[in-house]
Amino acid sequence: MENTMKNFVVPAEVFFEQIPIGPMANFAYLIGDRHSGEVALVDPGWEIPRLLDMIKQKKCFLTAVLLTHGHYDHIDGLAELLDDQDVPVYISRADADFFKVQAGHLVKTVDGDNIKIGGIELECIAAPGHTPGCQLYRYKNILLTGDVLFFDACGRCDLPGSDPAAMETTLRKIKQFPDDTLIFSGHGYGRKSWDTLANQKKTNPFL
Ligand SMILES: [Fe+2]
Repeated sequence: MENTMKNFVVPAEVFFEQIPIGPMANFAYLIGDRHSGEVALVDPGWEIPRLLDMIKQKKCFLTAVLLTHGHYDHIDGLAELLDDQDVPVYISRADADFFKVQAGHLVKTVDGDNIKIGGIELECIAAPGHTPGCQLYRYKNILLTGDVLFFDACGRCDLPGSDPAAMETTLRKIKQFPDDTLIFSGHGYGRKSWDTLANQKKTNPFL
């Protein structure tokens, strides 16, 4: 995927991988503690054997699954993954209930909750609009936006559970984050795979 900007830099203590998966240009992510090798897998929608293989090859250990929201293209690999890995699955309470998400060890989160992956702590940020319980995950300058914010676009607000007014509030909240925030979204639509918030404020008409 083409990205004319120089490569992004994440904090030294962080293990981070962006992984294009499936037929709908989804991104899964591995994020965790570079020193201990503990990682969380974000949005395991497709290609579970490949993702598990990658975790093994990188000498990492899966300690959690994080879901940005309850749409099938972000969660459909869950059962297959949990067959192999006994780890907690984090999702917002709102989306867990709305989509009736099933998982062995489901942890329902609310805005402001923190999730520890080894030595790093991710913050859960409620971001309703695309779905009732879309949730961003943030660590320092890394922001995983799921289907809330895309490059020069935002998520659809015409689906069951969508709320355009809530999306406006969510986008205003994202605008308040520091300009050097790195945006990593749930799909690789268009030519970019990541961007800074500063750049998105200039080019994204929804911000
Ligand atoms: Fe979605």
